[in-house]
Amino acid sequence: MASELVLAIETSCDETAVAIADRCGNPLVSRVASQVAIHAPYGGVVPELASRNHNADLRPLIESVLLEAGAAISDISLVAATSGPGLASSLLIGDTTAKALAAGIGCPFYSVNHMEGHLLSPFMGRQREVERNVALIVSGGHTLLIDVGGIGNYRLLGSTKDDAAGEAFDKVGKLLGLPYPGGPEIAKRALTGRADAFDFPRSMIHSGDFHFSFSGLKTAALHVKERFKGPPGEQEVADFCASFQEAIIDVLVSKLLHAAVASSLKLVTVSGGVSCNHRLRERVGNACADSGIEVLLAEPEYSTDNAAMIAFAAASRRNAGIPASSLHADIDPNLKLA
Ligand code: KG4
Ligand code: ZN
Repeated sequence: MASELVLAIETSCDETAVAIADRCGNPLVSRVASQVAIHAPYGGVVPELASRNHNADLRPLIESVLLEAGAAISDISLVAATSGPGLASSLLIGDTTAKALAAGIGCPFYSVNHMEGHLLSPFMGRQREVERNVALIVSGGHTLLIDVGGIGNYRLLGSTKDDAAGEAFDKVGKLLGLPYPGGPEIAKRALTGRADAFDFPRSMIHSGDFHFSFSGLKTAALHVKERFKGPPGEQEVADFCASFQEAIIDVLVSKLLHAAVASSLKLVTVSGGVSCNHRLRERVGNACADSGIEVLLAEPEYSTDNAAMIAFAAASRRNAGIPASSLHADIDPNLKLA
């Protein structure tokens, strides 16, 4: 096994994740110990449960990832961890463990903004430079449009004024009584539904800026659900999901394309948990093809929270000449990308 490896830890929310990458950040092994089943009965993430489970799972996960990569701790030349945004008590577990490892090995430590991990993930493993692009990041906590000038050069174009896109999926999933998290459940049911069955608002689609608002969708969803006479049947739920999903996607695709045109950029990227959504991937692909714009989508495996994207961001920063972080650097639950 080659030396000069990157070891990255991601514990910003409810997934404990560890990855090993080569010196360019290309993933070699990436594993996630999912806590979804632990939080599912509560309908959302319980912070204390999340940090207790990170604490229990992290060390064995690091050991098994090293074993799987055939790597010894002495092969590691960079250790990285997510330092925000996220839950403070969760961030602390990964951050402290990574700093202790870096200090023990005597190698540089890079603290990484979780959103930068998502933002750069569409470039992972593609052997191409991070060129200027308009990035759409759609996750459970964020909906961001960023003008990416290069590694570490990010300008915010727009963000959500209230709920994030993933949050809207999750809240409406809960309203329909679907298992947590709602996003993948809604996407699954939408496959057999009609997207024009119900009329959901496309909030701010014509606002002329690059901001989003998804909280009105929740209220609209509640009103639509109240119109059901009794518990909805399977087809009614499928139609509801397809219509709701299409409303979110219409806004995301429209704003992304407008941002690319306004910035005269011919490359867009899409990342974050919601970028797993097949319909979003299809719609962005078609819209970009029609406009002569190239699109890079994060691989589904690297769309939801993972540590490979943290390794890639850290390696990219180091290779771009950005200095390592101090072992005294604090975590920041509200860390901003731009
Ligand atoms: O990036 P991520 O794993 O965590 C955060 O940083 O927030 O994103 C999680 C979000 C959740 O809201 C989840 O419901 C959503 O991504 N999600 C999806 C799909 N898969 C995950 N939303 C819509 N369709 C999907 N297929
Ligand atoms: Zn995330």
